[in-house]
Amino acid sequence: MAAEPKKIKLDEKHDLKLYHEEAVNIARKAGNLVRNAFYEDKSFETKEHKTDLVTKTDQETETLIFNHFKEKFPSHSFIGEESVAYGQKCDLTDNPTWIIDPIDGTTNFIQKFPFVAISIALAINKELVIGVIYNPILDEMFSAITGQGATCNDASINVPNDVTELNQALLITETGADRNEQRISSVLENLRKLIMEPHLARGVRALGSAALNMCYVACGRANAYYEFGIHCWDVAAGIVILKEAGGSVLGATGEELDIMAREVVCASSDVLCKKICNVITRIPHDRD
Ligand code: IPD
Ligand code: CA
Repeated sequence: MAAEPKKIKLDEKHDLKLYHEEAVNIARKAGNLVRNAFYEDKSFETKEHKTDLVTKTDQETETLIFNHFKEKFPSHSFIGEESVAYGQKCDLTDNPTWIIDPIDGTTNFIQKFPFVAISIALAINKELVIGVIYNPILDEMFSAITGQGATCNDASINVPNDVTELNQALLITETGADRNEQRISSVLENLRKLIMEPHLARGVRALGSAALNMCYVACGRANAYYEFGIHCWDVAAGIVILKEAGGSVLGATGEELDIMAREVVCASSDVLCKKICNVITRIPHDRD
């Protein structure tokens, strides 16, 4: 079931269908670049943490996407993971802003583990209106325009509406790249509480891509996903897709999600999402 149409005021000059079409087109082109490099052995560098990896394909893919939008929509703004890593400000204004993760799942990409995605979102007046997530290895294109439902390879996707208890739920979560002792203790303690009695979640998975984690909840392959330490580019597109598939996305204490707050809790139903928020404890991170 699609989410209620947004109440945001979208200027008539904003053609969401055109923006969506261009996002899908460039996601496919970027997908070719990622797929061509996928089966090769790759060299990589590390970023902020020893397990936060980047390859030259991450940077090339971001440049390809950036140049595409700059040419098509020169007045739009841009937040991209690799540009921010190289010092660009992560600034979300009211101006139409493309929020990009060129390769979500870089460790998977290096390992040739086929859960990698190009993630592209558009925010206008700080409201997310378009989400496109493409896995070029499995050739799955997830996408959504606000108020118009979500699709996977053009077929409509919806969350199952009968999963409200943790003991019915397949959960997804991730450790993240920051292996600080105290932080990891909190990550494991949250997980322990969810999988042990009385909550007894059915199982736990980690796909290694926040964007795909959200798509998998959106299409019912899993029922919930939460993570602390993610960035806006990891979740922006997934938020639109999951909400449009009828799912729920919240901040860690059940409040409206702030995409700069480095956390996400989402589920196939609002009831399940709030139950998870009630069990886990927020792990604080510096804002984007
Ligand atoms: C990472 C992936 C991973 C998540 C990390 C993200 P990257 O993104 O989404 O699943 O656990 O928090 O940073 O670095 O592969 O783009
Ligand atoms: Ca990335």
